Amino acid sequence: MSIAHGIRTLGVLGSGQMGLGIAYVAALRAKVPVLLYDRSTEQIEKGLKFMDKLLAKDVSKGKIQDIEAKEARDRVTVVSQDQAYKGFRDVDMVVEAVSENLPLKQKIFSSLSAECRPDAILASNTSSISITKIAASTIPEGQSSASGSGKQSAARVVGLHFFNPVPVMKLVELISALQTSEDTLNRARAFAVACGKEVTVSKDVPGFVSNALLMPFINEAIMWLEKGVATKEDIDKTLKLGMNHPMGPLELADFIGLDTCLAIQQTLYQGTGDSKYRPSVLLERMVDAQWYGRKNGKGFYEYP
Ligand code: CAA
Repeated sequence: MSIAHGIRTLGVLGSGQMGLGIAYVAALRAKVPVLLYDRSTEQIEKGLKFMDKLLAKDVSKGKIQDIEAKEARDRVTVVSQDQAYKGFRDVDMVVEAVSENLPLKQKIFSSLSAECRPDAILASNTSSISITKIAASTIPEGQSSASGSGKQSAARVVGLHFFNPVPVMKLVELISALQTSEDTLNRARAFAVACGKEVTVSKDVPGFVSNALLMPFINEAIMWLEKGVATKEDIDKTLKLGMNHPMGPLELADFIGLDTCLAIQQTLYQGTGDSKYRPSVLLERMVDAQWYGRKNGKGFYEYP
């Protein structure tokens, strides 16, 4: 197959809203077979149901033919719990989309570098965590169990940051770790383009370009709510109607997930030491209360 990115099979690790969306655009737009793994079988079932719903909606709106939907769905295979990361042994690229937790990602990338082929790209969909730190957790040269060599381990790691909802948002932010090779970057970029995305490149700074700009904005809105400057509805309405934002900042925070917003803000604050990134107490308390936003029914707003 003569394709610029050379991705003949993709592994997606994590089937939450991001992982599922990535599997969807890869299968439908890039037409690449996808192996999907999540340690929660319940999450996989939920994700696949949502994918079926999205494909059916695209067919009913005449955006795609029935046969295209069927072919896309058939391209997605679930990796069994027994196989886990071993199921990614032969893929050309893995995109990790688990929660924003550095030790978890380090453990995953260490395992992936041992299990995957040495030339497979290992991409993270992290929203803010250092790709350089993630790359450093891969197993170094000579110590890999995969094909006896981990030579290119860190050089094949890259940040591939999709936006939610992945099928709709047009951007992928590409982040190069200090160790990332030019070839890895070029292939990752070509793959994102094949998924129908425009690409921007950011240095590996906390939050990259996107969240280093977005999170202080969201946090400021939460602090204004905390101070009682305006109601949540009026804060959101101001930005929606006054600035033409599709969602107000509080609505957007609920949409992204308040736990995710907090994790990103903590990474920004710890990574820079700059107090402008310090998460608001209200956000911390809401996450303490397990009010995560749209994903579990309650955040700034309620989602029955
Ligand atoms: N998954 C897939 N598709 C979805 C979706 C979802 N969760 N939610 C909505 N859509 C689709 C709809 O199916 C619809 O598609 P069609 O045009 O084919 O019918 C389309 O999006 C528009 O949806 P609606 O008409 O229902 O609603 P809307 O016009 O209000 O748009 C929205 C919904 C696209 C989400 C819009 O409100 C929006 O753009 N919001 C801002 C989203 C945003 O900023 N995302 C980035 C968050 S930051 C991030 O992700 C990165 C990070 O690191 C934190």
